[in-house]
Amino acid sequence: MTVLDDIKTLLGDDWKRFEAFFREVLQNKVELLNIVNNYLLEHRGKQLRPVLTLLTANSFSGGGQSALVAATVVEMVHTASLLHDDVIDNADQRRGAASVKRIWRSNIAVLTGDYWFAAAFLVLSKYNETRLLPYFNTCMAAMAEGEIWQLEKAQKLDITEEEYYQIIGRKTAEFLALSMVCGAVVAGAGEAAVQRMYDIGYAMGMAFQIRDDIFDYERDNRSGKPVGNDIRERKITLPLLYALRQAGDKERENILHHIRHAAKRTRSVTKVIDFVHRHNGQEYAEKVMTEHSRKAAALLRSLPDTPYRKALIDLARFMTSRRQ
Ligand code: IPE
Ligand code: IPE
Ligand code: MG
Ligand code: MG
Ligand code: MG
Repeated sequence: MTVLDDIKTLLGDDWKRFEAFFREVLQNKVELLNIVNNYLLEHRGKQLRPVLTLLTANSFSGGGQSALVAATVVEMVHTASLLHDDVIDNADQRRGAASVKRIWRSNIAVLTGDYWFAAAFLVLSKYNETRLLPYFNTCMAAMAEGEIWQLEKAQKLDITEEEYYQIIGRKTAEFLALSMVCGAVVAGAGEAAVQRMYDIGYAMGMAFQIRDDIFDYERDNRSGKPVGNDIRERKITLPLLYALRQAGDKERENILHHIRHAAKRTRSVTKVIDFVHRHNGQEYAEKVMTEHSRKAAALLRSLPDTPYRKALIDLARFMTSRRQ
């Protein structure tokens, strides 16, 4: 995690203020909600999105309290989406620990997610940052679309590579784009600059989700999330898509059979993982991921040469090398 740690050090007081504010806005009088919130605060993730917001704001003219509010709201919405995601994906592990869904069950996970979404928007209105609302609304609609589309494809098992890119664009890349756009908007960047930050965030997000999808096939996975869960949930991601394209008709049918049975049979999950390795699915996904990361880094060079720009370029590279 040293890349992110170094960047948080670079952000200095901005980062400390973010952490304090994030903690503060989640205090609640309902005891169970406080217990779950504290569990989430104890098991924080990388906090990549608020890092992107603050770095972007600082790459322009700063952004003061508005940047702090935007960074906080971005991480709140992200946390809410993960609470729901683990219910949708039936995932028992998150950030190296039991998921909220596992400990408190789906009903509490869904409601806590609802609470975090609502609390996030409350922060926007309380601090008079409702100018950011349309960006959030657009992004969250896209996220839900991507998630539903992914479920539809999991049922039918007929996803194409182009559809895969559309889906991860909506469910993940839009959100990294939003994180950067918010930073640019609060720092008073012009329309063209905001659009450029959107493109950069989107490219980073594509690389980020492809890396995440590769985790599912890594034997030495240290992501803190369960290996093979995408397969169990019938989610055909890029490494598997490529392998299926390489295979002959008979082998493809056989693997589709294993995907259909993966939820109940560990042996089928192993078969699919071996199949992907045999056809170099991971290598192909890495190649596509690297293209997105390079695109983001190249676009970033148009920003003024500051330590914040350098940090963003480091992050674009980190998308492809991260272990978590
Ligand atoms: C996980 O996001 C969800 C994806 C879009 C892959 P992160 O990997 O940023 O999650 P945390 O917050 O660091 O745990
Ligand atoms: C996450 O995708 C996307 C959203 C949270 C909207 P995944 O389902 O792959 O994320 P992880 O692997 O559970 O973190
Ligand atoms: Mg998931
Ligand atoms: Mg998911
Ligand atoms: Mg995943």
